[in-house]
Amino acid sequence: MEPTTLPARELEQRLEALLDVHEVPVPSAFAAEAQVTDRGPLDAAATADPAAWWAEQARALLDWQVPFTQSLDDSRPPFYTWFADGRLNASANCLDRHVDAGLGGRVAFHWHGEEGETRDVTYADLLADTQRLANVLLDRGIRAGDVVGIFLPMIPEVVVAMLACARIGAIHNVVFGGFSAEAVAERMDVSGAKALITVDGARRKGKVAAVKAQVDAAMGDLATLETVLVVRHTGVDCPMTAGRDLDYAETTAAAEPVCPPAELGAEHPLFILYSSGSTAKPKGILHTTGGYLTGVAWTHRNVFDLRPDEDVWFCSADVGWITGHSYMVYGPLCNAATSVMYEGAPDYPHQGIWWELVERYKATIFYTAPTAIRACMKWGAHIPDGYDLSSLRLLGTVGEPINPKAWHWYREVIGGGTAPVVDTWWQTETGAIMITTLPGAQAMKPGSAGTPLPGVKAGLRSLTSEERAGGNGILVLEQPWPSMLRTLYGDDDRYVETYWSRYGERTYLVGDAASIDSGGYVSIVGRIDDVINVSGHRLSTAEVESAIVAHPKVAEAAVVAQTDEDTGQAIAAFVTLEGDYHGDDALVEELRAHVAERIGKLARPRRILWADDLPKTRSGKIMRRLLRDIADGRALGDVTTLRDPTVMAALQAQIATAQ
Ligand code: PRX
Repeated sequence: MEPTTLPARELEQRLEALLDVHEVPVPSAFAAEAQVTDRGPLDAAATADPAAWWAEQARALLDWQVPFTQSLDDSRPPFYTWFADGRLNASANCLDRHVDAGLGGRVAFHWHGEEGETRDVTYADLLADTQRLANVLLDRGIRAGDVVGIFLPMIPEVVVAMLACARIGAIHNVVFGGFSAEAVAERMDVSGAKALITVDGARRKGKVAAVKAQVDAAMGDLATLETVLVVRHTGVDCPMTAGRDLDYAETTAAAEPVCPPAELGAEHPLFILYSSGSTAKPKGILHTTGGYLTGVAWTHRNVFDLRPDEDVWFCSADVGWITGHSYMVYGPLCNAATSVMYEGAPDYPHQGIWWELVERYKATIFYTAPTAIRACMKWGAHIPDGYDLSSLRLLGTVGEPINPKAWHWYREVIGGGTAPVVDTWWQTETGAIMITTLPGAQAMKPGSAGTPLPGVKAGLRSLTSEERAGGNGILVLEQPWPSMLRTLYGDDDRYVETYWSRYGERTYLVGDAASIDSGGYVSIVGRIDDVINVSGHRLSTAEVESAIVAHPKVAEAAVVAQTDEDTGQAIAAFVTLEGDYHGDDALVEELRAHVAERIGKLARPRRILWADDLPKTRSGKIMRRLLRDIADGRALGDVTTLRDPTVMAALQAQIATAQ
């Protein structure tokens, strides 16, 4: 088909007009084919008895080695369990049952490398590779319940690594490839990892990072770490420690080919994923097997109207985030879907690479973050217009609120003006999508995620009390759901304190402020804690501050979010220097590089502002609210509670002269 191009001015006018459209009905062509066109019966059953309804989904979607007899156990809130007496294996649900059903030849991943290499990995391939790697792990003494770190780029081996852990009941702890080696070392240390699966080097926009060498340097001799498996991906030189480090390809080739899936309790831990919270210490969010798989399989199938035999699923997330875990690996594989996996950045080797892949693999469903959509808008509609995107029938977004203009652009330019867009709200903690629209059954409201899914109950509370709030308030989830986190790894107290102390142990504190309209549609306003959302990536102000303060020239630092057109939020850091050090451009670069090394490039402050003093309350707490006002160029809020009210005027003057 010859692609059609709408001239830029016409598109702009159309988008302006669309901004008045606050509700978009279900497209009739989509509804005619959709699997769910009426939520009524689902909602009725899920509301009447949520635990029984979820049990029905768990039975329908998963294969159980030993069927469960109990659904939710809420006798020890907030430590809820689901399907606890059932037994199953996640890798068997993702692989064996599909191969047994004759789907071994189906492509699980159309992998596309940064330099244009391609690999089609079938379900049978994945099963064979997973069993061999599982045997390597067993040979190295890894047992059920042990933690295995994974630090790999977007290559098929990352999926094999996760599933090999799941096969033997080891708990995987994947670290996003964009994090620094120091961040990897810290996460391996606090989780007591016994093995790490990593890579010689990773490619990023044509350059190669010497990952293994960096990880070695940062990690030193971590006492618990007995095995490091190294995937040779780029061929870059890397140090190998005798007795500990093994070549992935060599050892898996030599391993036994058959490894039966372990029979594990439904509450057996599947993985830990570290995420940022209000303190400098990342939270090890723990998910278990049966409930998690039920949540991701149900949502992947129903929110995305998935037809496993026909659809080609393309999720642009990195596997190192929860979106990658739930909607690149476990959801799609449980559902026997075919996916596209791209190794590189969205603008490498060119700004149309995603659309080239949509055209090449005839992707039907595409899922990405609003930041990426805004970047594509900036690059211009002429880029996607150069490709045939007519295979796309459904679009999704995740990670941050999407502004209506970006929403309409996405639908018009990528979705041809006809595909529904599902804005999916959820968190690392929730494991699976919680609030959105079912595309064949519910109208869309640009800027609003939608309504809670069947089996999910959301509400609003006022900031100060347990009372229900009207249209605006603090978002809570009011009943347990199967894919919820079970605890913070090794820190039950922090789990209770973070999520269940404000409104009680039956009301989950989400950490977002939201509004709910008369139709029950939820719009997310933003975080209520010190978490910053940069491009849909969650970062903690405290974590960035502690990285900056660790620099020898820095005396004190305060980090706040400033509003950013492209990335939603960006990091602004107010920095007080030691003694006679002088803040200049060279030091800005030094501090940014320092943060990249401690946490990762994504945590680098967009802006560094030098401050002689920071605004503090009488009890010595930094008043970030005032710093946010400065960063966003707003009029200052109330300064009377400051220990020294003159600090703000001095700070403003200092910033004005610097600019
Ligand atoms: O603030 C919400 C925002 O991202 C937070 C969760 O971040 P994380 O655990 O990293 O998971 C991101 C991917 C699931 C939420 O507390 N958020 C996520 N999705 C949306 C969103 N904000 C608005 N709209 C969304 N669709």
